[in-house]
Amino acid sequence: MDYKKALSNKIFKIIGQSADELNMDSYVIGGFVRDYILKRGTAKDIDIVAVGSGIELAEKVASKLPGKPQVSVFKNFGTAMVKHEDLELEFVGARKESYHRDSRKPVVENGTLEDDQKRRDFTINALAISLNEKTWGTLLDPFNGLEDLKNKLIRTPLEPGITYSDDPLRMMRAIRFATQLDFDIQLESLQAITAHKDRIKIISKERIVDELNKIMCCKKPSIGFSLLHKTELLEIILPELTALQGIEEIEGQRHKDNFWHTLEVVDNISLATDNLWLRWAALLHDIGKAPTKRFHKKIGWTFHGHEFVGSKMVYKLFKRLRMPLNDKMKYVQKLVLMSSRPIVLAEEFVTDSAVRRLIFDAGEHVDDLMTLCEADITTKNPKKQRRYKNNFKLVREKIEEVEERDRVRNFQPPITGEEIMQTFDLKPSKEIGIIKEAIKEAILEGEIPNEYNAAKEYMIIKGKSLGLVPINFPQGKKQ
Ligand code: CTP
Repeated sequence: MDYKKALSNKIFKIIGQSADELNMDSYVIGGFVRDYILKRGTAKDIDIVAVGSGIELAEKVASKLPGKPQVSVFKNFGTAMVKHEDLELEFVGARKESYHRDSRKPVVENGTLEDDQKRRDFTINALAISLNEKTWGTLLDPFNGLEDLKNKLIRTPLEPGITYSDDPLRMMRAIRFATQLDFDIQLESLQAITAHKDRIKIISKERIVDELNKIMCCKKPSIGFSLLHKTELLEIILPELTALQGIEEIEGQRHKDNFWHTLEVVDNISLATDNLWLRWAALLHDIGKAPTKRFHKKIGWTFHGHEFVGSKMVYKLFKRLRMPLNDKMKYVQKLVLMSSRPIVLAEEFVTDSAVRRLIFDAGEHVDDLMTLCEADITTKNPKKQRRYKNNFKLVREKIEEVEERDRVRNFQPPITGEEIMQTFDLKPSKEIGIIKEAIKEAILEGEIPNEYNAAKEYMIIKGKSLGLVPINFPQGKKQ
């Protein structure tokens, strides 16, 4: 492979020239090189390592760039960042680094390129291409990263226990890269992750969730989740999921393994959507099943109310992991809460009013809910598989038909509370709520269409049944 081709962006010439002027060696390293070799497109985050001061090199480079962009210096880390066009250039001086076990503060000393490569996470991320004029385009690969790229293997440059305890986030990164790239993790590495799993507790929740989200965005997230499970990290990070694992049998009655089922659902939904939060809803849709599991002699295994319990657990889980407690969390909660609704519908005769209620309750998320339920079909029985899919197709068709006619997806009451008060000359009171609710119910049940005139007529009838007198229609007067 011609590594000079990787350097076609003229920024690399400028960096190389700057390094030559400062009499230091410089290299592009990390994700940019890895992704170039893997033909994954060119990354926009570019890591540059200087054998010398990374900050000095960044300042020299910035002074040569049009508009002389600002250099953001992170003195504590000895790094500097320059934005140029759509690129983010991160400069760092080559370091020899060791961490003290009792503190995450590294002891930093200047080092050679190889010292620096050695302290990186994986061999595939330690590949460097030289930018100096004399050695322009030479690949430096002392740890056989190229070979590992070919063999699709995640391996650490040092003994894995050292690499992972230096920075335990790398345990998550290993699993994330394995999922993103569809690589294997070297056995020793997997064993080291399992052995050091408790060290993940020193990593901030935000960084853990960041990696989880990256796993979630992959084509087949189950690769990552089964590795998290295998290394026992999942038990620490998401115990709600590992609690779903296992099949119990009592008196010959078994239930399915809801953990492996969940992973299948996540993979299924990932074929249908890139919406990260819908994927989270798939991951969490059954978490209420562990605490609600019961065995009854007559009916076997039940998980009554698991959707409600699950949606409450979503809040606790998001809070614990410091995930946003905003509309995204509410969206996941809502989908978990409603996750069985279309299934019940599809099993029975699909009535208009049941569909209207589903649309009303799910509102703008009704399509996402259907996508979740379709992903939830994991039966290996082809006959059943076909039947469920067909039923959901019918439900989808019915949703469209009913919505076109009745528009309950973003339901706005056709009669306002204000109008009810005026009609019956009422002050704010509970009757207004009762009448509004009755109108809504009549529309959802299909007793009246979702239209103003029909709703107004219904309001009068309902009001009268409550003993109210409409002021425009005084009692005794014939209408
Ligand atoms: N790195 C490391 N240990 C970490 C994080 C990063 O050794 N915990 C090193 C790796 O050499 C990595 C480089 O720093 O390649 C840049 O890190 P980052 O930008 O997070 O990852 P990339 O490899 O660029 O990949 P991606 O952008 O896909 O995350």
